[in-house]
Amino acid sequence: MKKKESAANVLYETAFAEYGSALEMLAACKQAIKVREVLGFFEHARDEYIHTKKFLSILKKQGGNLSNIVARKYKFVHIGALKKGYVSEKGYLIETKKMKDFVAYIYTNELIAEDEFSKILKYFEDDKESTDTIHSIMKDELRHHGMARKYFLKYYPFIQPYQLMIYKYREYLHNKGRKFYFKNFQILEKLFTPIYFFVSYLVSLPLRLLNQKEFSRINKNLMDISSKSLL
Ligand SMILES: [Fe+2]
Ligand SMILES: [Fe+2]
Repeated sequence: MKKKESAANVLYETAFAEYGSALEMLAACKQAIKVREVLGFFEHARDEYIHTKKFLSILKKQGGNLSNIVARKYKFVHIGALKKGYVSEKGYLIETKKMKDFVAYIYTNELIAEDEFSKILKYFEDDKESTDTIHSIMKDELRHHGMARKYFLKYYPFIQPYQLMIYKYREYLHNKGRKFYFKNFQILEKLFTPIYFFVSYLVSLPLRLLNQKEFSRINKNLMDISSKSLL
């Protein structure tokens, strides 16, 4: 994949990840009871929506460097967050995880996000505006990480150092696993697509020998036709 398209691909996936986080935070906001938590989750959701918008605006700019056919692949459709697995079909994290695990998940994933965004910067070395935008998003992620840490220390003070470390490495491994799967999926797709087209072509060959006139329904009593018939 060329550098310009790779950049578009990374921005596209990141926008979905941010949008998925916004939905997760909004779901958590709806479930929270304490006013401080409602406000905290609401502000976090708002930040993630803003991040999505910012990544999409950089993607839009990047789209200008791509051909129309390639750029069309990167059209943002909201349902993609579900289809791509950024939001689980089983439900929102706040519904499927215990509160402690949910906060630990935010704690580690905000840190991973900040780390991932630092890698996106390499695509925009000559674009100061985009670099500044990504830096500001990275700052927000560190703030989110800090908020989750504070919450964890306040409500689960006895187990935190040991458990947070396990959570952190577990999520790092999950993240690496997801990337590995995605990379291999792309390679397999490239490998199997020509085979798939070739097999489809072979299957279509006998169909050319069929006399299509036999398939005409005009002036035929359909009740007389055998149930095994193709008609
Ligand atoms: Fe974010
Ligand atoms: Fe965040």
